[in-house]
Amino acid sequence: MNWKGVIHHYRKFLPVTEKTPVITLLEGNTPLVFSEDLTKAIGPKVYLKYEGLNPTGSFKDRGMTMAISKAIEKGSKMVMCASTGNTSASAAAYSAKSGCLKCVVLIPEGNIALGKLAQAMIHQAQVIAIKGNFDDALTLVKNITDHYPVELVNSINPFRIEGQKTAAFEICDVLQGAPEFHAIPVGNAGNITAYWKGYKEYNDIGRSKQLPKMLGFQAAGAAPIVLGHVVEKPETIATAIRIGNPASWKKAEAARDESGGLIDSVTDDEILDAYKRLASKTGVFVEPASAASVAGILKLSKQGYFKKHKDARIVCTVTGHGLKDPNIAIKNITEPVVLKADIKAVLHEIGL
Ligand code: F0G
Repeated sequence: MNWKGVIHHYRKFLPVTEKTPVITLLEGNTPLVFSEDLTKAIGPKVYLKYEGLNPTGSFKDRGMTMAISKAIEKGSKMVMCASTGNTSASAAAYSAKSGCLKCVVLIPEGNIALGKLAQAMIHQAQVIAIKGNFDDALTLVKNITDHYPVELVNSINPFRIEGQKTAAFEICDVLQGAPEFHAIPVGNAGNITAYWKGYKEYNDIGRSKQLPKMLGFQAAGAAPIVLGHVVEKPETIATAIRIGNPASWKKAEAARDESGGLIDSVTDDEILDAYKRLASKTGVFVEPASAASVAGILKLSKQGYFKKHKDARIVCTVTGHGLKDPNIAIKNITEPVVLKADIKAVLHEIGL
């Protein structure tokens, strides 16, 4: 197939017209990877929707192709977002591709993974670090974009959700219908909202005969939806989902309740275990936040949640690439040994 990006492929499901200038980096069409290891451990067939293979290394590109195309259609000259890193990387890249948009991003100082910062900067966004967290940054961005001719490209922009729902379409297209369960990390709660919208739309037109139960997972130190209240000082190693007051809180609860699913939390230790397990036993390298979905299904499995569902399929969205956050990877491995450039020494070391 000659893949031309999510707007081209799913045009009839998206609010675009002939007049919409399509800004694309050919995002989407990401692999649905079967995990033998997780299937053996859990029972139902486990698939990973490997969103780290999008052009900027995260699922944000699906929404950003829409948000940036619509901003240009409207005549905007400047876009702005708050970000834990991936949104800023994506907004910066798509703005660069447009050739005509200035991109400004607000990030929480000291809490953004190295790769994401590098991306926003090399794509020439104006990057401003805020002495505060993501929630503080988003409040500022909402305020500015409400009062100035600047387009907000966070996931409260409905075009972001429209673009991101295409991941659910792709899953149904591959599996010939929705899986029984869909597990997903939850931060600002845009993505769980988008998937649920996508699954419902495919169900409505008969492309799927069922809807999945949506299983959302927050990091334990940043789990406002699970706790039922705002977390003033969210903390987690999974900086992408270090969010204490998700903008799409109510929509995430609706996805949970309408689907008969749940939103639970996983500890940083559980996230790191799943992160290492994915890399070492399935060969899929993700950033820590992405591993929350897998940590979540491992936790539920231990509680017997999937006992009666051995024939079911679980799709886990793994949202961002592991290379985004190299420091975490390096902290979780043992340093390589250093040897002389000598064959005997190398053979001895590898046990030959
Ligand atoms: N996983 C990754 C890798 C993310 O970057 C995000 C969100 C999420 C999961 C959660 O998705 O917010 O739609 O519930 N990152 C945003 C950002 C907040 O600024 O890049 P969500």
